[in-house]
Amino acid sequence: MSTVDGKTVRVALLGCGTVGTEVARLLTEQADELAARAGAPVELAGIAVRRPDKHPELPQHLLTNDAAALVESDVDVVVELIGGVDPVREWLLTALRKGKSVVTANKALLAEYSAELFEAADSSGADLYFEAAVAGAIPLLRPLRESLAGDRITKVMGIVNGTTNFILSAMDSTGAGYAETLDEASRLGYAEADPTADVDGYDAASKAAILASLAFHTRVTASDVHREGISNVSASDIAAAKALGRTVKLLSICERVEGEDGAESVSARVHPVMLPRTHPLANVGGAYNAVFVEADAAGSLMFYGQGAGGAPTASAVLGDLVAVARNRVLGGRGPRESAHAQLPVRPMGRTPTRYHVSLDVADKPGVLAQVAQVFAAHEVSIAAVRQRDRHDTASLVIVTHLAPDAALEATVEAIGKMDVVNEVVSVMRVEGEDS
Ligand code: NDP
Ligand code: HSE
Repeated sequence: MSTVDGKTVRVALLGCGTVGTEVARLLTEQADELAARAGAPVELAGIAVRRPDKHPELPQHLLTNDAAALVESDVDVVVELIGGVDPVREWLLTALRKGKSVVTANKALLAEYSAELFEAADSSGADLYFEAAVAGAIPLLRPLRESLAGDRITKVMGIVNGTTNFILSAMDSTGAGYAETLDEASRLGYAEADPTADVDGYDAASKAAILASLAFHTRVTASDVHREGISNVSASDIAAAKALGRTVKLLSICERVEGEDGAESVSARVHPVMLPRTHPLANVGGAYNAVFVEADAAGSLMFYGQGAGGAPTASAVLGDLVAVARNRVLGGRGPRESAHAQLPVRPMGRTPTRYHVSLDVADKPGVLAQVAQVFAAHEVSIAAVRQRDRHDTASLVIVTHLAPDAALEATVEAIGKMDVVNEVVSVMRVEGEDS
């Protein structure tokens, strides 16, 4: 039977793949240390996997393929490391409603259903912890939920997907191909079970939703986040960035934006950006993650570390497990949902961004003026222009000041239709430079 009264915290582990295997290993190897920190032994009571016969390395008496029954059994804490929404959502709701604390790394679930999960946790007084859901090993959510709870956060921006950063870093440094690098990221355990979640930006968008919700005390779901992945980032985009002393990164950007009437809203977006190579995020390589947080009183903070992989992610899971175990042993609860601000979400078209546009144009008098006129007609101000002559064409690189994203998009569309423009070679948003 459950022995929190008798001082043992019984844990159900759902999923024992890349992350779950490391959690099970650390739970066993560090049992004494964990017990000392939690105030009671933390015992692995069962492990649910899809195919128990594929896991000869695990204690066979703990294995089951019936996760629902394991959740209903006499356990105190459910650690969920399966991923995806269904059927996990029902299992975690059941656990929370029955007063079992939940630790999960499942950003896809949290980005859509955290309100429902928190409500279930509140109905029984259980804990819901999810540090590993964003940025792997990096302690980021606890600082947002707790350490910065008294401050006013204005921006959270960073690299939160290890797989795409691994791919973009390799394309930039060695010129490696996209497909081979993605295979390597999967082999190293960074990519999601379906890696399109990484390369198409779904994973980063889920993480942006979680970050924006916590930072701005507002319910933001993945569908509120503007999302573009890296599958359209070409070798010529990377080369164009390099030629200008920049690099390409996939960023999640969550901002508090003030409208002309002074009313605040939240902007949350994921897309590739060009960053100056001198920017701290430009030098974050491989599967590492880094996130900047700006807050009124704290100023700028930077969080950096391993954002994916079994052991780094298990570190965050174990930290949460010790926290919920301690709460059960000593009494008390972790933080609840904080969504009191309920700021509206600003559509991408009205979010101020900056563009880098690289064009191949006819090399004849008046072309630059015609192109500049299209920017002016859309009320987009140009910050810098660079022209390089070729044979009978010219390469034109234009960087804009901040403008509503819809105006920038319309400008690029109009330019693409001009007779004097042979090709729109590359279009990318710019971050990390004075506007
Ligand atoms: P894996 O694909 O490596 O492991 C998934 C595990 O879930 C496997 O053990 C699988 O069983 C089990 N499983 C799948 N379906 C069921 C089911 N219906 N019932 C019982 N068990 C099931 O995933 P990861 O370890 O990489 O990721 C797990 C979670 O952690 C995901 O939410 C992911 O987004 C998140 N995460 C992952 C990180 C990483 O770097 N990998 C980093 C941060 C978060 P079987 O082994 O038999 O196939
Ligand atoms: N697939 C994710 C990534 C795992 O590459 O960042 C960590 O959340």
